[in-house]
Amino acid sequence: MLSEESFNRLVLVEIGAAIATALLLLFITAPYGRHARQGWGVMIPAKWAWLVMEMPASLGFLALYFLGSRAFQAVPLIFCAIWQLHYLQRTFVYPVLQRGLGRPWPLLVALSGFSFQCLNGFVNARWISERGSYDLDWLWSPQFLVGVFLFLVGFWINMQSDAILRRLRQPGDSSYHIPSGGMYRWVSCPNYFGEILEWTGWAVMTWSLPGLAFALYTIANLGPRALAHHRWYQKEFSDYPAQRKALIPFLI
Ligand SMILES: NC(=O)c1ccc[n+]([C@@H]2O[C@H](COP(=O)([O-])OP(=O)(O)OC[C@H]3O[C@@H](n4cnc5c(N)ncnc54)[C@H](OP(=O)(O)O)[C@@H]3O)[C@@H](O)[C@H]2O)c1
Repeated sequence: MLSEESFNRLVLVEIGAAIATALLLLFITAPYGRHARQGWGVMIPAKWAWLVMEMPASLGFLALYFLGSRAFQAVPLIFCAIWQLHYLQRTFVYPVLQRGLGRPWPLLVALSGFSFQCLNGFVNARWISERGSYDLDWLWSPQFLVGVFLFLVGFWINMQSDAILRRLRQPGDSSYHIPSGGMYRWVSCPNYFGEILEWTGWAVMTWSLPGLAFALYTIANLGPRALAHHRWYQKEFSDYPAQRKALIPFLI
């Protein structure tokens, strides 16, 4: 299929995308959700945006994974299950569970998410089922154990935090309220904190450049957005908890 050189070039493109995203988001807040605004072209319902964006990371990933020559080895299969634990939930369950109407998304943002996930799904699926090599001993390596721990803790925080947000709205409601409970005691965006932990865990458990590229992209994407959400809460709610940080408890 692809030469090693071309594959590595694709991973470098993803790392470049992470750097470009971080720089861009320092000046422009991605125009979806509470930061949605006019002038970004055609808008689509949020539920459809999630389905479009995450399809390459769930079903696309799965198809590519099973094209790999190591697809039926134990460690790659465990990696695949861990990845899909997140992405089958995000693509097919998360949008359905949303209670409120949600702000419509610019098609442009959904398509840029889709393009990124094509690249990201490709390099990560190909890595674990074809290019990377993991024997059974890897399951006892510090990288695997620490990585899985980080991933599962992050997954739990992400799910819990998204569920708290969901319960803030009644069906048909699209207004915003101050979230509380769970890790909202400490930060404005624990769902993003959990997501960053998950993909950092993925990078550690796979000990791979594609994994690192995805972790960097997640930080580049969600870090600036957490700061923007935090400033927005402080501006909109005069009674917003003063000690709450944006993303990392007690720090940022
Ligand atoms: N890996 C990545 O790079 C990446 C990128 C983006 C998102 N994600 C993940 O995808 C999930 C959703 O991301 P997001 O950016 O949409 O998160 P978000 O801004 O926290 O919003 C999540 C949902 O909760 C609603 N909501 C948020 N704050 C609320 C409040 N104070 N009161 C009532 N409802 C509220 C939002 O409604 P509105 O839509 O109406 O604002 C939206 O439906 C998160 O788990 C995130 O980690 C991952």
